[in-house]
Amino acid sequence: MASSLKAALAGLAAALVLGAAAVAAADDDTARRVEQSRAVVADFAKTLKGELTRAMSEGGPTAAIGVCQQVAPAIAADASQRTGWTVGRTSLRVRNPANAPDAWEQETLRGFEARKAAGEKPSELETYGFVEQDGRKVFRYMKAIPTGKLCLACHGSELDPAVRAALAEAYPGDRATGFALGDIRGAFTITQPR
Ligand code: HEC
Repeated sequence: MASSLKAALAGLAAALVLGAAAVAAADDDTARRVEQSRAVVADFAKTLKGELTRAMSEGGPTAAIGVCQQVAPAIAADASQRTGWTVGRTSLRVRNPANAPDAWEQETLRGFEARKAAGEKPSELETYGFVEQDGRKVFRYMKAIPTGKLCLACHGSELDPAVRAALAEAYPGDRATGFALGDIRGAFTITQPR
């Protein structure tokens, strides 16, 4: 009797410890997901910028269009496969309609614009949290992408006519020109299953 009570109490104590650990894990979960999202985004940005810079210096912007067209989606697909998440880029003014934002992304991008207008640095804008989507809870993360000097050749106001023509041919509905240095060009976006 005594020993079975002891066992029951031990079991209860273990359950309480596990319960406490589960609560701690739930609390830590967001921090871990944010850290992992930041790492994936940093990697995506670095790889793409490296490829883009190399292609621009080798063949100029017209040749580098192919990098953005093929390499950017390939990096996104690779990151998605590696993590089991959905990793991509989006914007309020997209070049490729496949990158168009969904409702949560639109709202987040508008929030980024408002925060920038209120004085926050575009390079530091991020948003994340658990969101209900198609009846299930997912974790979503977005980080703003500022327009740098390198970007203006293909997203600025004064495009080289050859670049303009190549873009018009590949992206008839292109809305991603007319950006200025420091504008929010768009954002990296990640959806993680719960
Ligand atoms: C050589 C031309 C070129 C340069 C330079 C360039 N881009 Fe792009 N960008 C493109 C093309 C082409 C696409 C469409 C890619 C696709 O089909 O997914 C694109 C798409 C994007 C998208 C995805 C959303 C959308 O509009 O479809 C973002 C965000 C973006 N570019 C940001 C940048 C930033 C930031 C820079 C500077 C670091 C930059 N780009 C430099 C050509 C360029």
